[in-house]
Amino acid sequence: MSEQVATVPTTRARGLYQQVATLRKDAWWVEPALTVTMLTTFIVYTTWAALVNVHYFVDPYLSPFYSPCLSTNCAHPTFALFNWPLSPAMLILWAPAGFRLTCYYYRKAYYRSFWLSPPACAVRDGHKVYSGETRFPLLFQNLHRYFFYFATIVVLFLWWDALKAFRFPVPGSHAYTFGMGVGTLVLLANAALLSLYSFSCHSCRHLCGGGLDVLSRSPGRLKLWQKVSRLNENHMLFAWISLIGVMITDLYVRLLSMGYITDLRFF
Ligand code: FES
Repeated sequence: MSEQVATVPTTRARGLYQQVATLRKDAWWVEPALTVTMLTTFIVYTTWAALVNVHYFVDPYLSPFYSPCLSTNCAHPTFALFNWPLSPAMLILWAPAGFRLTCYYYRKAYYRSFWLSPPACAVRDGHKVYSGETRFPLLFQNLHRYFFYFATIVVLFLWWDALKAFRFPVPGSHAYTFGMGVGTLVLLANAALLSLYSFSCHSCRHLCGGGLDVLSRSPGRLKLWQKVSRLNENHMLFAWISLIGVMITDLYVRLLSMGYITDLRFF
């Protein structure tokens, strides 16, 4: 008897669920729609900026999409290691791109928004079968921790570029002078935002506090883990603002290089 009572509402709910995508009445679709808009804009802009291979350097500013610049054909080589005929951005962008693509937060965001898997809580899944991340190609999401190492190296170079953004050429000579412009602040902010994003990563948190039986017996690592855990609470926020920040930084350098804007010098 009690089994019968339980079955009636369950069956009715399931029937409704199959007719409409969800019983939710709120604007649940706004978040996935915004995610699709933002990520598509970022992918299109980054791909274009990486392939166009011009206007990525204006002394002393180097676009983050081309840093470190490792090719002999760079406008401003960091290390001229490779004789590479194509855009130098292609030599390094795989690291930050792979890092973002396999990020635990972005995975949730794009599984929901692009693959409707599911698009939101209590909304029907767009797929009949769920295989998780146990098969090709999603199995490669496990490479995230390795991308973290490569992306961290890139972030170190971005700090180096930010420091070099204080070194301005003296017009009409080969000398350089110490200075600061809006571009210096833009590059500094970009390096800071990408550091916050990278060091709030779940893999970084595991690196600090994982693999130990008793974390409290390693006070140094415990402290580090606590600090990274604090950052980790805001990982989603850092993911978005660093994404927008890196795009703005490239755009700033590009517009300067094209002569559309001028850099305001503070000293
Ligand atoms: S979890 Fe997002 S970058 Fe590692």
